[in-house]
Amino acid sequence: MSKPIRIALTKGRLEKDTIALLEKLGFDCTAVREKGRKLILPIPDGNLEVVLAKAMDVITYVDRGVCDLGVVGKDTIMESNGRFYELVDLGFGRCKFALAGKKGENFYEGFGVKTIATKYPNVTRNFFEGKGMDIDIVKIEGSVELAPLLDLANGIVDIVETGTTLKENGLEVYEDVAPISARLIANTVSLKLRQQEIESLISLIESKL
Ligand code: PRP
Repeated sequence: MSKPIRIALTKGRLEKDTIALLEKLGFDCTAVREKGRKLILPIPDGNLEVVLAKAMDVITYVDRGVCDLGVVGKDTIMESNGRFYELVDLGFGRCKFALAGKKGENFYEGFGVKTIATKYPNVTRNFFEGKGMDIDIVKIEGSVELAPLLDLANGIVDIVETGTTLKENGLEVYEDVAPISARLIANTVSLKLRQQEIESLISLIESKL
């Protein structure tokens, strides 16, 4: 048998749905489910090898070619500068990027340069560049929703899933930025060298979505 196709999966929110999808394809994911502290996990009956990683690391591994495939959110893809192919919208992990801020305020009012807090400076820059609007971006690592409450920013660009975090903090969506869901990505060289194997995996995935 050829060497396994190595696939990087995003830990956390997408993990459960990704493993469920692999099992739906008929693969035995016991080693992934019972991983303990092990980092590279075999799925022998699929000739696959799974690496669990943080979202941005999934992109790095696929970009650098140490993983052939990856499962990662569109949010991370939009923020990254990596080179890879985006192959399939897997349909789970659905949420959106939105511009939000204090309830009842008119964000676009006035002429001053607006300050936007975000964990996603590239997404934010691209969104406002598309509007021809000059803004000041503050990069925040933790709960971005705090920034308008502390009057650090006029608004935030962040992920909204259920809307609960915004609601519980007196914030609201001003505008949707982009829809998000989990995507299958591939290393550009792997896709050429292992085209048949990757294409049959994609067909299998598409038949189960
Ligand atoms: C995300 C996002 C929001 C929240 C939105 O954070 O940054 O804070 O989820 O979800 P909701 O609309 O369902 O309330 P996450 O919980 O992933 O934690 P993080 O701050 O570690 O990114």
